[in-house]
Order: sequence, then C-alpha cells, then structure tokens
Amino acid sequence: MPAKEGTVLVTGGTGYIGSFTALELLVAGYEVIVIDNLYNSSEESLNRIELICGKRPIFYKADVTDQEALDKIFKDHPHIDSVIHFAALKSVGESTEIPVEYYRVNVGGTISLLRSMEANGVKNIVFSSSATVYGDATRYPNMIPIPETCPIGPTNPYGRTKMMIEMVIEDHVESHPGWNAALLRYFNPAGAHPSGIMGEDPQGVPYNLLPLLGQVAVGRREKLKVFGTDYASHDGTAIRDYIHVVDLAKGHIAALNKLRKDKPGCRAWNLGTGKGSTVFDMIKAFSKAVGRDLPYEVVPRRKGDVLDLTAVPTRANEELGWKAEMTLEQACEDLWKWVFNNPQGYRQMPPQILLDA
Ligand code: NAD
Ligand code: WQD
Repeated sequence: MPAKEGTVLVTGGTGYIGSFTALELLVAGYEVIVIDNLYNSSEESLNRIELICGKRPIFYKADVTDQEALDKIFKDHPHIDSVIHFAALKSVGESTEIPVEYYRVNVGGTISLLRSMEANGVKNIVFSSSATVYGDATRYPNMIPIPETCPIGPTNPYGRTKMMIEMVIEDHVESHPGWNAALLRYFNPAGAHPSGIMGEDPQGVPYNLLPLLGQVAVGRREKLKVFGTDYASHDGTAIRDYIHVVDLAKGHIAALNKLRKDKPGCRAWNLGTGKGSTVFDMIKAFSKAVGRDLPYEVVPRRKGDVLDLTAVPTRANEELGWKAEMTLEQACEDLWKWVFNNPQGYRQMPPQILLDA
C-alpha cells in the first residue's frame, strides 16, 4: 500500500543533509527508502530519525555505482516515483588527490542511477549540486550575491563532478519527455536538529568550518585555523552563506513538490539565505552559543578558496514557495547542543534527558 504522498528513494540518506531530508519527507507523509554504502555515515542516523518522528526509512546498504543493486531496489519497490540523490564524495581537498575516484563515484554513480530510473519508469530527480559550481563569481560584475544565471566555472575536481552531473541530467531530461529535475545548488549547510540528537557526524577529519569549530569547542581539537585575513571583507576573512540544515532539508521537499506538480523540466535553484557571514562572524556567533571564546590562529589562505559565496535565493523563494527561516544564532545553538551532547557523534547514545524530551 503506497504512502499518502508517494514513495521517494533517497541515495546517501544516512549522511548529514540526506538524513535531515529523510526526516522531513517522513514528517510530510512520504514513504522513504534510503540507500547508502555508509562510507561517510552511520546507520544510527536512522534510529535518531525514528526517535524524532516515530517513523523509519526502509534501508539498503548499497552502492550507487552498483547498477544491479539499484535495479533490484527499483523492481522491489514499484511505487517509487521520485529520487533525491545525495550520495557522493564531497571533500574538495581529497578530490585534488584522487580525482578519478571522485568522477567514478559522483558522475558514474549518477549515470547508473539515471539508467536504473529510466529502466523502471521513475522520472523525477532532485540532485544535490553545490554553490561550488560557480567557482569565483567575483570574475563577473554584478554577480555577488550569486544568482542562478551566473556562469558556472568550478575551480576543483569535486566542483567539476557537480558541474558534469548537472550537464548529464540536463541532457537526459532534454532528450526524454516526461522527465523533471531539480538541480539544487546548496550554499553552506550549518547546524543540527534542535532536539540535539541528530547532526553531522563525519567519519574522518572534517574539511568544513562548522564541524571543525564544534570539535574545538568540545576539546577534540586545540584551535581553529583561520584561512586568511586579507580578503576584501569587513574583517578580512572570507564570506559564506550559512543555511540551517533543517531549512535546507525543507527546500528538498519544496523542490520535489514542484517537480511532481508543475513538471518544470530541468531547472537550477540556489538554496541559501541571501545573507553573507565572515569566518570571524561565525567564530563570534558560535562562541556566543558555547558561552566562551574559542581559540583560533590566523594562517595563510586555503588554496582554491574564494572571497564571497552568497546566494541570491529569490528564484527558490518565488518558484518553490520556500524560504530559509532559521537564524545563524539558531544554527549555532543547535550545533552546540549536538556536539556538547554527542562529542563522539553517533558512536554513543545521547543523554537520556534529550531522549525523554
Ligand atoms: P555526507 O558525506 O554526510 O553524505 C553523503 C552520503 O553518501 C554519505 O552517507 C555516504 O556514506 C554516502 N555515499 C558516498 N558514496 C556512496 C556510494 N558510492 N554509494 C552510496 N552511498 C554513498 O555529505 P552531505 O554533507 O550530507 O552531502 C550530501 C550531498 O550534498 C553530497 O552530494 C554533497 O556533495 C552535496 N553538498 C554538500 C555540501 C556540504 O557542505 N555539506 C554543500 C553542497 C553540496
Ligand atoms: C567556509 C569558510 C574557509 C575551515 C565547501 C566546499 C563547497 C561546499 C561547502 C560541498 C571559508 C574558512 C574553513 C577552517 C577556515 N561543499 N575556514 N578554517 O569552502 O565555503 O565550501 O563546503 O559542496 O563545495 O568548497 O566551506 O566550511 O570549508 O569553509 O578559516 O579550518 O571557512 O576558508 O572561508 P567552503 P568551508
């Protein structure tokens, strides 16, 4: 018996953004099937989803590059009508060391997925793209903040996998009537679930600012390295558009509803707040949530970093009827609640007091 709203396959659904989106889908009345090879995540995220909403996704430990495994899942679940595709490798630094692996998993995995979808008559895909496809938008006059019409030009192999996938999906939709795709270009996801029992749990050394700041706050890391204070911003550090992960997850539901209802073909949408914050702004906001100053040292710029990645989110606001609603302060408070209560991430249970709440 299909769920009220329909059945959605979520690849990479035990990961950070995928798990929050699976939760929002269940809350919205969808049946959710997650596939993930657990390369950068843990099955425990599914228990936390169930603790929060009382429902649990169906789970397959499978690899998106495994065509046979994908085909079998689609055959076993003929009610699947849409896919949200998160599964990918996502470390910019690592992508410069093992680029072929990034192309194999990210581009190759998407091609396997599209082929399985086509073979099984599933024609809606929401794809996790990234603001990184824009590269350095300061190359263009009037393109900061960044609208979707800004020419794309990623500056690293990871970003190029996202650009290529966008092109593959666009070409496929163009040549196959009935297909619809949302290319969601996320800016910088931040925060955790307000309950304090779900959050980002990277398996290795984190690459991103907020998980690193979280580790400094709980003493897993001595101090934060601030990459450069010679940018043309109000305090010399680089500017990003940090969006609460719960808002980001809700953006996927809005995009999915758009595909199912209006059948727009292939379309890109920025998911951001439209508000830029510097590295020092973030250190200040997170220190406030923690209640003490966090140690940092200034080091030279990180290779490949750009001055400003801030979204113009108007297209998503107007066409998807979605808007980021949560503040940076909330994101910092929720992140702190998560890391304080779960310093080892999903490798430990959260305190009973949070489970009882
Ligand atoms: P994540 O690593 O937490 O989630 C990705 C998930 O995909 C993980 O659970 C991982 O185990 C899984 N996975 C990796 N390779 C797989 C494979 N071959 N088969 C099946 N599963 C596989 O990362 P995230 O931050 O949740 O990112 C989700 C998506 O959003 C990714 O596509 C990422 O590129 C994109 N994105 C992330 C950010 C960000 O800053 N976090 C920004 C823009 C875009
Ligand atoms: C944010 C700011 C750093 C770490 C990356 C990817 C992008 C997207 C999001 C997936 C920058 C500064 C960071 C540190 C620092 N991911 N920083 N010290 O680089 O904007 O984007 O993640 O698609 O593709 O490139 O995010 O969190 O790494 O950095 O000073 O230890 O924090 O220089 O200005 P970024 P980030």
